[in-house]
Amino acid sequence: MRVLTGITPSGTLHIGNYFGAMRPAIELQAGGDAYYFIADYHSLTVITDPAERRGYTQGIALDWLACGLDPAKSVFWRQSDIPEVCELTWLIGSLTPMGLLERAHSYKDKLAKGIAPNFGLFAYPVLMAADILLYDTNVVPVGKDQKQHLEMTRDIAIKFNLTYGEGTFVVPEERISESVAVIPGLDGQKMSKSYGNTIEIFGDEKVLRKKIMGIVMDSRTPQEPKPDADKNLAIQLLRFFAQADVAADYESRLRAGGLGYGDLKKTLFEHYWNFFAPYRARRAELVANPDYVEKVLHDGAERARAVAAKTMARARQACGLR
Ligand code: TRP
Repeated sequence: MRVLTGITPSGTLHIGNYFGAMRPAIELQAGGDAYYFIADYHSLTVITDPAERRGYTQGIALDWLACGLDPAKSVFWRQSDIPEVCELTWLIGSLTPMGLLERAHSYKDKLAKGIAPNFGLFAYPVLMAADILLYDTNVVPVGKDQKQHLEMTRDIAIKFNLTYGEGTFVVPEERISESVAVIPGLDGQKMSKSYGNTIEIFGDEKVLRKKIMGIVMDSRTPQEPKPDADKNLAIQLLRFFAQADVAADYESRLRAGGLGYGDLKKTLFEHYWNFFAPYRARRAELVANPDYVEKVLHDGAERARAVAAKTMARARQACGLR
C-alpha cells in the first residue's frame, strides 16, 4: 500500500499544517511505503521570488525531518529533482479535457479572487495527477480541499489506461479522511496562511508569545462563570497541546469562574512551546548540518527516480513514444 503526498513550499508551516497533515503523514510512515515530496514545481504558480522558493523548500525539509519524518522509513525528495514528472504531465495532459480543468474548484476560486490565470495554474491538477501516477500510488492522505484533484487523477488514470492499455497506471484509491483536523486560527476561523491567523510551528519565542497573548476574547471579568467555556478558542487550542485531563481541568475552571483570560493564554503558550521543544532541538541540529539534509533529499530522489523510471517506460511504450 503506497502512500504519497506533496507539500507546496509557499510559506512557513503552522500548527494547522502540523495537526492536519504532518503528524498523520508521519504516523503513516510506520506502514513502510510512504512517499513524501516537496512540491517546488507547484510553488511556481504561487511565488515568483527565487530566494523565497529556496528558503521555503529548505524550511519544509527541516520542519518535516525535525517533526519525525524518518528517511529510513520514508522516501523524501524534492519534486523538481525528478523532472520526468513534467514529461508525464504532458502525456496525461494531452488526454485531459479542458472542461475537467475548467470545473476545478481551486482554479475557479483563484479566478474569483481576481488572480490572473496562467497555464501553470490551469494545469496544476494535471501536474498533481502526474505526481501521484508516476509513483504507483495507492493512497493519498489529503484533506477535503484536495478531494476534487484526486477525483481528477482517477479520471485521468482511467482514461489513459482505456486509451493506451490497462495496467499502465495504478488508479489511486479514493480515500479522503473526513476527520482531518481543522485547527482554529488566532481569530477563530480555520487556521490558514491566507487569513493571516497562523501560529507557526517554529519561530521566535517572543513573536509567538505575543501572537498567543494577543488572542482577542470577550470582556467578561475573570470571576464571571463562563458556561460556553468549551467554545473558548484558547481551550480549543490547548486540547491539541495538553493532556486531556489538563485541558479539561482548565475548561472547568474557566466555566466555574475565577480563571482570567490572561492566565489562560499564558498556559496555552507554555503548553504549545513545550509541545514542540524536542522538535525545536532536533531542528537546530539539522540547521547546523545542511549537508545531511541535502543528502537525505538526494538519496530520496534516487529512490523515487527508480520507481519513476519504470512508470515512464510503461507510459511511453503504451502510447507509442518508444
Ligand atoms: N496540491 C497539494 C496542496 O496544495 C500539494 C500537492 C502537489 C500534492 N502534488 C501533490 C498533494 C500530490 C498530494 C499528492 O496541498
